[in-house]
Amino acid sequence: MAITRRTFLKGALTLAGSSLGGALAVPALKTLLPPPITRCDPEVAYDTLLYKRREPGTWYEPLKGKVARKEDFKLNQSAMVTWAPKELEEELGSCEVVLTLVKLPAEEAMAEWGISDDGGNAVMMAYHTYKCPHLCCKPVFMDEGVSSLSGAAYETMFLCPCHLSRFDPLSIIEETDELGRQVMVAELVEGPAPYGLPIVPVAERDGGLIGRTDKLEWLKYCGQG
Ligand code: FES
Repeated sequence: MAITRRTFLKGALTLAGSSLGGALAVPALKTLLPPPITRCDPEVAYDTLLYKRREPGTWYEPLKGKVARKEDFKLNQSAMVTWAPKELEEELGSCEVVLTLVKLPAEEAMAEWGISDDGGNAVMMAYHTYKCPHLCCKPVFMDEGVSSLSGAAYETMFLCPCHLSRFDPLSIIEETDELGRQVMVAELVEGPAPYGLPIVPVAERDGGLIGRTDKLEWLKYCGQG
């Protein structure tokens, strides 16, 4: 059939009408759908960093469940903290994650991401030790040690127990993750991890430390998100 101006306009109007109808129908259909199933109770969500419970023998055991404060820490001292902001389930599929909080000597690259203390000589930083970016084990903070891979002695490092990747908490750099996203990390020093250990930006509220939720995309790996 020859396409005349009249048949062309008729077809275009029919198409526009059906598109408009579809656009109007989607919100209407959404109202008929049941609300998404959630496992996490928004009433118990918290963005504060709380000292982890059930950590016998640690310096922070007497503080378990309390909000971490920078004054609690000595230099190079670490603590495991829980974090459960309400955005976590939608972004990462978890109700709560465990992070490691450390007071470290101040480095310029930390200023934007941590909380300054001790007259500017120290910074409180949080690291996503819930999942190693290699195969999802849990890196631990080490005061010192000797690398089983290279034999090098080291101080203040995160060491992943599964395949011995080491991450330097004092060297905060920007890297590209496996999905091409820009991520701020503790630099990978050695081992098979594809990039460094992501940080969680920290803020302070009413004297206590909180984890900022504006960079949750940095934590989306190993099935998180
Ligand atoms: S899971 Fe951490 S190095 Fe392999």
